[in-house]
This record gives sequence, structure tokens and C-alpha cells, in this order.
Amino acid sequence: SDPLVIAIDGTFASGKGTLAKRLAAHYGLKHLDTGKLYRATARDLLASGGALDDAEAAALAAAHIDADTLDDPYLKSGGMGAAASKVSVYPSVRQVLLEFQRNFASQGAVLDGRDIGTVICPDATVKLFVDAEPELRADRRFRELRGYGEDVTLETVLSDLKERDHRDMNRAVAPLKPAADAHLLDTSHLSIDAAVTTAIALIDAVV
Ligand code: C5P
Repeated sequence: SDPLVIAIDGTFASGKGTLAKRLAAHYGLKHLDTGKLYRATARDLLASGGALDDAEAAALAAAHIDADTLDDPYLKSGGMGAAASKVSVYPSVRQVLLEFQRNFASQGAVLDGRDIGTVICPDATVKLFVDAEPELRADRRFRELRGYGEDVTLETVLSDLKERDHRDMNRAVAPLKPAADAHLLDTSHLSIDAAVTTAIALIDAVV
């Protein structure tokens, strides 16, 4: 039988990453937070003295990502998220990272990102699209960044989040949008446990 592939897409700070981790543990699957690939691309590009508007240098950085450096806490910063969103618009970057992601998924996995159900794993067993109201997502992210010791305000987090959503949804290549066959999951008024339970019910209904 085909390996179980769970594709989770969604907006920034929607809770998709936590959901992905929990589902991976539940089904005994590997998990890839694909945003880390774009964040690592931006990190390595900047570290080598490259500029975020240099598509060729960005693709080169993407091609040389070391999978062992994806757990770098520095990748989680707000600055790296914004930089990742900038390099993620380049088709050459997306093409390089597509192969890495498809390889990862080939034996079964949970992947979370923006284009997993639409581009990376169009034949995924189950596709979820996670979203929540912007104010609630901003509040979650604000608390998280404060937890890392970042000196941010809720206002800037909300305006950054809206800017990022806009860029992710409106780019020419692989824009953020639900796949036609994705299940929509609005986590605005759902606890993490409730979101996990809902997702497991959806998945168990098709496997
Ligand atoms: O999910 P995360 O905030 O780590 O993603 C950072 C940025 O990387 C996103 O805003 C998006 O621009 C880009 N990204 C993407 N495709 C993915 C995952 C992330 O374009 N599958």
C-alpha cells in the first residue's frame, strides 16, 4: 500500500506546526517543517554575504543546505521568517527545495508548509489547510517571540503577519492556498488537543 503522507498547509502562526508534530507522533511518521528550509536558505545566503534580492545566490544557498543545521534556534527569529518569505518567491529556490521535500516524503511523512498539498505532495493521503483569525495568530506569535526574549510589540507582530500572509498568498509561484481536496481546519476557537482530535478523525476516515 502507498506510504501515509499527511500534507499540512496554512497561514503563519495558525498552529499547523504543532498539529504536524502531534500527528507525526500519533502515526509514527517523520515530520518536516518545510518553513525551516526557506529560513535556512535565507540564513546561509546572508551568512555568505549574499543579498535577499539575489535570486541566483539564493538558489545556490538552497542547493547547499545541510539538513543537520535545521534545528538552529536562530532560524525561529522573526527576522529569519521575513527573510525566508522573501527568498521563497524565487522559482529557482522553490525548485531546488522541491526535490528535498519529495525525497523526505517518499517513505511516508508529515510535512507542513504553504504548498505541500498543492505542489510538493499533490497525491498526499490527506491534506489539511489550517487557518485562524489574524488577531489570534498574532497574539500566539507575540507570546512565542516574547518567550524567546525578543523585544516586540503585538502591533508589529500583527502588521508583519498581515504583510507575510499577503506576500505568501500573492506570489506567482506556489502561492499559499488550500488544495481543492484539502480539509479546512479553523483553529481560532480550538484548543491544540481539539485540533489534533479533529485531524485524527479526518485522517482515520480515509486510511
Ligand atoms: O512556516 P514558516 O514561518 O517557517 O515559513 C517561513 C516562510 O517560508 C513563509 O512565510 C513562506 O514565505 C515560506 N515558505 C514557503 N513554502 C513552504 C514553507 C514556507 O514558501 N512550504
